[in-house]
Amino acid sequence: MQQLNVNNTVRTVDAEADTPLLWVIREQLGLTGTKYGCGMALCGACTVHIDGVATRSCVRPVASVDASAKVVTIEGLSPDGSHPVQKAWAALDVPQCGFCQSGMIMAATALLQNNPHPTDADIDAAMTNICRCGSYNRVRAAIHAVVSGKMADAGLRIQHIDGSHA
Ligand code: FES
Ligand code: FES
Repeated sequence: MQQLNVNNTVRTVDAEADTPLLWVIREQLGLTGTKYGCGMALCGACTVHIDGVATRSCVRPVASVDASAKVVTIEGLSPDGSHPVQKAWAALDVPQCGFCQSGMIMAATALLQNNPHPTDADIDAAMTNICRCGSYNRVRAAIHAVVSGKMADAGLRIQHIDGSHA
């Protein structure tokens, strides 16, 4: 038995020490917003925060998460989807199939907590999540919209292959 603080609630879980945190979150706690993609720390679909740090939960053994650590999943960002990053994602229609987007949003919120005014290069460096639908330009635009606070009229900035913007 182990205690975990998930979304500001202390929960008792029963799992083998090497069970990935992702499975505990999904199967024991029923928080299925966090997704399984690759299971190898490559895609970022399983990203949660541990003490504010974006963490790929598919490769994080549950026993390595201290009881005092604050784990936040997509369900814990806001009670009603009203977190500024979630609002920007909706305003700019970022999700396509949506499968990667919980991880994208968790990575973006961690980025903005550490760097409230990221450049395109900062975003590219921090957002290593994989999206098979190719939502990368919209992800970047939504992060800029959060920073500017102008979600309603935020335009989609398209970056061409030569690095210029439309
Ligand atoms: S499922 Fe964890 S990084 Fe892909
Ligand atoms: S929106 Fe489909 S994988 Fe990213």
